Amino acid sequence: MTLKITLAAACALVLAACGNHARSGDEAATAASAPAEPAATPPPAATTAMPAESTPPAASTVAARAPAATTDSDKPAAVVKDCATTIEGNDAMQFNVGSITVPASCAKFTVNLKHAGTMPVAAMGHDVVISKESDMQGVLADGMGAGASADYVKAGDSRVVAHTKLVGGGQSTSVSFDTSKIKTGGPYEFFCSFPGHAAMMKGSISVG
Ligand code: CU
Repeated sequence: MTLKITLAAACALVLAACGNHARSGDEAATAASAPAEPAATPPPAATTAMPAESTPPAASTVAARAPAATTDSDKPAAVVKDCATTIEGNDAMQFNVGSITVPASCAKFTVNLKHAGTMPVAAMGHDVVISKESDMQGVLADGMGAGASADYVKAGDSRVVAHTKLVGGGQSTSVSFDTSKIKTGGPYEFFCSFPGHAAMMKGSISVG
């Protein structure tokens, strides 16, 4: 039963196929060769377009990574003298150094921050906050909640080793702290707690 139906169906298909071939063999050949050339042209265009589309995203990915790579370790180490350093922030949301090494001989250390830009504190304020790297995101989140009036640092945040106030263009500030606070339990980071700035404005601080 099933076999008969299958055979019948197969025969019908074969007949139909043969009939079509027999009748439209020439037409099919003509039709096939005619569209073949126009059809051959678009595919190369599409092939060219695809790499062209995939190349810019690749380039922009690299470009997007490049600034991130230059925010940290690619920047110079801070110049340290007499148990103190002066670092700069600017209107481009950058610190001028990527790391601070505190001499082990210093019992206290001072970080001076100079805002080398001209933008007001409300638009491009900078500060220096020091915490464990692992505490940084929590400090930043609570700092944002505390708001500008609190210099974007939560009052009494025990995760904060030290922090300056927030300053605008042309202003300076500083903070001193006991170096024993960052001798163990690190790694520690210094960063700006102005909302959004720490992604660009951060670096490592350690006792060397
Ligand atoms: Cu900042």
